[in-house]
Amino acid sequence: MQRLLVVEDDASVRTTITTFLELEGYNVEAVSSTREAIARLNRDQYPIVISDIYLDERTGIDVLRTAREQNPGCVVILMTARGSMETVMSATQHGAFDYIAKPFELDAMLATIRRAEATLNGAEEHVEDIDDLPETEMIGSSPKMIDIYKIVSKVAPTDATVLIEGETGTGKELIARMIHRNSQRSREAFVPVDCGSIAPSLLESELFGAMKGAYTGSDRDRVGLFEAAHRGTVFLDEIGDIDLGFQLKLLRFLQEREIRPVGASRPKPIDVRIVAATNRDMQKMVDEGKFREDLWFRLNVVPVHVPPLCERRGDIPLLAHYFLKKYNGRYHQTTRMTESGLKTMEIYSWPGNVRQLQHMMERLSILAPMGRIDESAVREAIEQMEPRETSSETLADTEAEQIRRVLAATGGNKSRASKILGIERKTLYRKLERMGLA
Ligand SMILES: Nc1ncnc2c1ncn2[C@@H]1O[C@H](COP(=O)(O)OP(=O)(O)OP(=O)(O)O)[C@@H](O)[C@H]1O
Ligand SMILES: [Mg+2]
Repeated sequence: MQRLLVVEDDASVRTTITTFLELEGYNVEAVSSTREAIARLNRDQYPIVISDIYLDERTGIDVLRTAREQNPGCVVILMTARGSMETVMSATQHGAFDYIAKPFELDAMLATIRRAEATLNGAEEHVEDIDDLPETEMIGSSPKMIDIYKIVSKVAPTDATVLIEGETGTGKELIARMIHRNSQRSREAFVPVDCGSIAPSLLESELFGAMKGAYTGSDRDRVGLFEAAHRGTVFLDEIGDIDLGFQLKLLRFLQEREIRPVGASRPKPIDVRIVAATNRDMQKMVDEGKFREDLWFRLNVVPVHVPPLCERRGDIPLLAHYFLKKYNGRYHQTTRMTESGLKTMEIYSWPGNVRQLQHMMERLSILAPMGRIDESAVREAIEQMEPRETSSETLADTEAEQIRRVLAATGGNKSRASKILGIERKTLYRKLERMGLA
């Protein structure tokens, strides 16, 4: 029979909870003060403790601290009718398993206890950390990554134009930066240009600049990004997104290496190295007449194909450890990975590639129950990252808890928190309101 310690000063609530849980088959010990609770915890170990927060001169937070000090594996559930952001924060920071607002349905409390038991039973050894993580930003030792390093090491010191192709989140921009850093231009600027997000009508003046008076309201010369990158590297991201009209202008630039700012009478020579990237099938775009073949040839001097993560699964453990270490450090967490958690990651398809893995480790570093990334934690994280129909009840159950944990880890920073949770800021505010924490 599972032993539970219940701490509640209100006699009728205490009796109700005790009777209900005994009928559910638990071995319940109930006390009415922090003093009694702490005395018992010092004498004996309880796997699960359920405590009210506002009790007497001390609070449920003191009970929580004692319980976790005496037995770090102890699962503590706090309940209160007078919750605030502050109490929730300190509960979370001291390792409370969950926090229930009163009044609650007894069945909801039971569901929380069942989840707590699952954590106790499922306790699984974590895998060893990888101590000797490589001192690099570019993680991966799979044969396919080694092939990329070979190409990059040969092409970086030259001024050759490079075209990096790969799915979203595979690390194209990281590779572009590595090329720049290992080139003779490394001391000069690296200027990324997201061609896909600049309106076609603005691309020309953004890249080539514009003279004073070229547009209504332009009262001074505007330096273009190519000129800003003079002697450095320009990274043309999402190159497949530029329209046919501008493709011709870009081709001219690549042939002449001169810019002509909008409204200027004379061209200006510019010395930049071009690295371009795309997640589109360029061959297909050329075949369909959407991308100029001559421009493609100019860009595709040295192609680098970055394989999707599912074609280099061997790198997943290294990447997962690397990101976990990074986010544990950032958010002051001590989350560990288990064998089953890692296995689950290794067989997943990763449609969002390395970026998706990175986001998942950021979330899990904060949200993994009891700081343990096991199979169910990974499955849940995957489920929440994928567009899906919201059907599962457990999600609503754990949602509030997740929001609290993320807010605690980010020091209450709501915009950071909404990013990690994968929801809009507005949505987060609405949910906080519903939780009574706005
Ligand atoms: N091999 C790697 N090692 C460490 N971090 C990586 C690796 N590959 C990608 N990342 C990280 O994953 C994230 C996405 O990478 P990046 O922005 O380079 O992808 P991308 O291919 O440019 O994606 P998109 O096509 O969506 O722009 C970045 O935060 C990057 O630092
Ligand atoms: Mg990119």
